[in-house]
Amino acid sequence: MSYPYQIRSMEQYQSEYKKSVEDPEGFWAGIAGNFSWHRKWDKVLDWNFTDPRVKWFSGAQLNITENCLDRHLAERGDQPAIIWEPNDPEEHYRILTYKELHFKVCQFAQVLKNNGARKGDRICIYMPMVPELAIAVLACARIGAIHSVVFGGFSAQSIADRIQDAQCNIVITSDGGQRGNKGIPLKSVIDDALVQCPSVKKVIVLTRTRVPVSMIKGRDTWWEDEIRKVETQGNPVCPAEPMEAEDMLFILYTSGSTGKPKGVVHTCGGYMVYTNYTFVNVFQYQPGDVYFCTADIGWITGHSYIVYGPLSAGATTLLFEGIPTYPDAGRFWDIVDKFKVNILYTAPTAIRSLMGFGPDYVKSKDLSSLKVLGTVGEPINEEAWHWYHENIGKGRCPIVDTWWQTETGGILISNLAGITPHKPAHATLPLPGVQPLLVDEKGEPVPGSDAARDGVWHGGASGEPVAGNLCIKFPFPSIIRTTYGDHERCRQTYFATYPGLYFTGDGALRDAEGNYRITGRVDDVLNVSGHRIGTAEVENAINMHTGVVESAVVGYPHDIKGQGIYAYVIFNGDKSDPVHVRQAIVQTVARIIGAIAKPDKIQLVSGLPKTRSGKIMRRILRKIAEGETGSLGDTSTLLDPGVVDEIKAGRL
Ligand code: WTA
Repeated sequence: MSYPYQIRSMEQYQSEYKKSVEDPEGFWAGIAGNFSWHRKWDKVLDWNFTDPRVKWFSGAQLNITENCLDRHLAERGDQPAIIWEPNDPEEHYRILTYKELHFKVCQFAQVLKNNGARKGDRICIYMPMVPELAIAVLACARIGAIHSVVFGGFSAQSIADRIQDAQCNIVITSDGGQRGNKGIPLKSVIDDALVQCPSVKKVIVLTRTRVPVSMIKGRDTWWEDEIRKVETQGNPVCPAEPMEAEDMLFILYTSGSTGKPKGVVHTCGGYMVYTNYTFVNVFQYQPGDVYFCTADIGWITGHSYIVYGPLSAGATTLLFEGIPTYPDAGRFWDIVDKFKVNILYTAPTAIRSLMGFGPDYVKSKDLSSLKVLGTVGEPINEEAWHWYHENIGKGRCPIVDTWWQTETGGILISNLAGITPHKPAHATLPLPGVQPLLVDEKGEPVPGSDAARDGVWHGGASGEPVAGNLCIKFPFPSIIRTTYGDHERCRQTYFATYPGLYFTGDGALRDAEGNYRITGRVDDVLNVSGHRIGTAEVENAINMHTGVVESAVVGYPHDIKGQGIYAYVIFNGDKSDPVHVRQAIVQTVARIIGAIAKPDKIQLVSGLPKTRSGKIMRRILRKIAEGETGSLGDTSTLLDPGVVDEIKAGRL
């Protein structure tokens, strides 16, 4: 497969960017022409950011799995589509060629149909990182069912919330999962969740760990038994359902600054075009390369850059079930060595953690196959960047620092590996089609921050970086379409803060060369080990504990996780054993949200700093958690300034 739209030089990047701004419709129609469509579009783009309404390729029909599977069969049917490395290095790896993957997806799509799945149904997937997870995702897309993948680290309550919100009728899971030394009782968690989910009629259970599980008659069925039934039917090739470009492809829940997680909706056409385009350009994928993204398919990175982006490009994508430190901190490098990985895409938190184990785990490994390194999920600090560049890339691999979000579906700001320059801790330049803009608190554009107006090469006029809140002023094909079941919430959250703009929730700088540097969230969203967690969500979970009166949660800098979770809690239960109280609160959060949201520090306090109108002053709590010993700024508007001294004195 060749990629006529792969940018090969800096000059070409500039001219493509220019074209994408001057004629977005012509630009994206040109890219979209490289895919298989059942029917071409009537209109490339129809949009306003007020409703908001964004429609790409209206009138077109396609099925994304034909683009990810069928169209590769003739040319590269026998090439590996998925390489799978299990958690336990003693267990044998698996390779699925494009032919085999196509066959298995069709088979499982038929299983879904046999179990009553129809186009438009919502199907929840809660699985370990095994090839069957990718197969399940693609099988849903094949028949036009909307998948909602839930990360294995979420609790039964979180799953129930998500299943109820989307009214899923089928769940796909496995008996258990294994991450490092830890077993995860996936089916048992699903059983707990389903007590609250009458909409679910069928549960399909893959055998993975062989832990005993309860199988409820009429509801639960084994994956393997269902496959056998399809085999006795003679394995009909499940035809791909023709989908409208704007039909929903999937829902993925993510945390915001308020309330419960929202279901971000992506649609078929634009998402396919954009994830493919960015995969091919950012990583500079060449046919035959082995590409390894260490994310979990439960997050957007896994959706876009393990499954859809690489497969639609006919790439070989490596899927890893385990964790970077099992059986030891050399596991990633073993995998690179074993499969001669050419492109490695991981998260700063993993890099910092592995850096902490010292150079011995890297030394004896052959990493000479690596050509490109990537990071995603949070700002990468310069120290980690240099360690990655020198120790892993041996100083010869470009690092792509890719900034994007669940809501953007694909990478928006990043250098293109080896084509546009990298700069430590900078995501650098917008991809063609992406028009970033920084605004101040009042929503006024910051001079010199607008890539599309200034052209790509002119940044802050003074030569000093300019700062502001990062917005996007024009739609790109994979921008969020709605939040499931609540379009108003989508408008409020992303399009109302600065009318006419999509607001990302991130702060950023732009330097004189036009490079963007993401500085982190400016709203009440934490980024813990690259996972998004809303402070309000954690507070709600803490407040569920019977002894808790009130709580306030903020982030603080954490060497490995990037941010840690610091909770201030007013507790009126029995406080004679504070260690026990803290453990009970941690347990509560694990129950309500999941292990990923456990607070790192819990400080029991007698009051919280509030204004006279009752608003908690998080700015002060944040400063204390960060270890600020000097001035906390203006505290004169506080109802009871005395509480601040107490909290300061009791800091953990
Ligand atoms: C942060 C993950 C700095 C950012 C793809 C964003 C980053 C949030 C970067 C989205 C990066 C992601 N540099 N910060 N390269 N990439 N972020 O939805 O705060 O899980 O808003 O999507 O992660 O997280 P999400």
